[in-house]
Amino acid sequence: MTQRIAFFNHKGGVSKTTTTFHLGWMLAEKGKKVILVDADSQCNLTGLVLGYELFENFYEEEQKGNLKTALAPAFESMPKIIDAVDCLPVKGRENLFLLPGHVNLSEYEVTLGIAQELSASIYTLQNLPGSISYLLNKTAEKFEADYILVDMSPSLSSINQNILMTSDFLIIPTNPDIFSVMALDALGRVLPEWFAWAKKAGSGHLRKATYPFPPTNLKFLGTIVQKYQPYKGEPATAFQKWVDKIGHIVTDNVVPELRKCNGILPNQVYFNQGINNDFCLANISDFKSLIAKSAAAQTPVFALSLGQLGETGIVQAQYKKNRDAYRQVFSDLADKVIGLTSYADSH
Ligand SMILES: Nc1ncnc2c1ncn2[C@@H]1O[C@H](COP(=O)(O)OP(=O)(O)O)[C@@H](O)[C@H]1O
Ligand SMILES: [Mg+2]
Repeated sequence: MTQRIAFFNHKGGVSKTTTTFHLGWMLAEKGKKVILVDADSQCNLTGLVLGYELFENFYEEEQKGNLKTALAPAFESMPKIIDAVDCLPVKGRENLFLLPGHVNLSEYEVTLGIAQELSASIYTLQNLPGSISYLLNKTAEKFEADYILVDMSPSLSSINQNILMTSDFLIIPTNPDIFSVMALDALGRVLPEWFAWAKKAGSGHLRKATYPFPPTNLKFLGTIVQKYQPYKGEPATAFQKWVDKIGHIVTDNVVPELRKCNGILPNQVYFNQGINNDFCLANISDFKSLIAKSAAAQTPVFALSLGQLGETGIVQAQYKKNRDAYRQVFSDLADKVIGLTSYADSH
């Protein structure tokens, strides 16, 4: 069975795209078949995977497979059924694929918003709320994917509401700062509303649509706190304060709210993976100069070759040391994700 994981935080710049790419690559390295989905109309993930030169030409050629074109049969009332997308193989990593995004995906935002609120009364809109999930399932089947990782846009939009509530799992990427704490506080209030909507949508008239809206079964896996400045391997004091605050807000606000919505796995499952009650899956420090090398090579920081790291002597040795430390961090993160999601798979 394919597990769908949404990377969501309505705050921008918290490493959603970077984490989707890095974790997806690591899961593929561990033998899982993974599809990365770019559901942000900024298309940063598509740009990151293709590199900017290929990216620019990608949309010039006639309609190559992407999220918007694939959804057009539903959103533009075409007389054909939605079909699986021919995902692109990600260069340098077997078992990893990309379902590209589209800058105009947001054109479907308003229609989807109306469909999600009113579709009981407007017959032609009933097929929209289940269409994205249908497309992702079809594509997963075609590729026999173990995981679909969805990189989402930084907003509380209808498309995000839809994608999140039809996913199996949620990971919240976040940064150690005041704005991330505020964003988490807001999520603690918004997510219960989305759960309530999805419960209603999954049990009502949308079940009988051509693309049925699936019953919601979303579970929170945890947060990933990224880009702290380390001091001797640990977050420096100024950042530690925010790391702690993020932990508290997750424990005290977000998790209790999600628990009421049945959005949390049994405690034992997190415990078995060594996850504390702050639900932090990983603390990832600032990649510093490795981030530019990673972007240039369209390769995660931990998978950069010596050639891609460049330099010589002690400078290269230091890069290599950092690279290998990040490899361990992402390997541990992937193991936790596999552990958590395989529990849910077997239940
Ligand atoms: N651990 C990290 N260290 C250094 N830079 C990072 C790290 N994670 C992300 N970035 C950079 O921060 C910026 C925002 O990250 P991104 O993944 O695009 O966030 P989002 O998708 O949440 O908007 C990007 O320029 C990215 O390269
Ligand atoms: Mg992004």
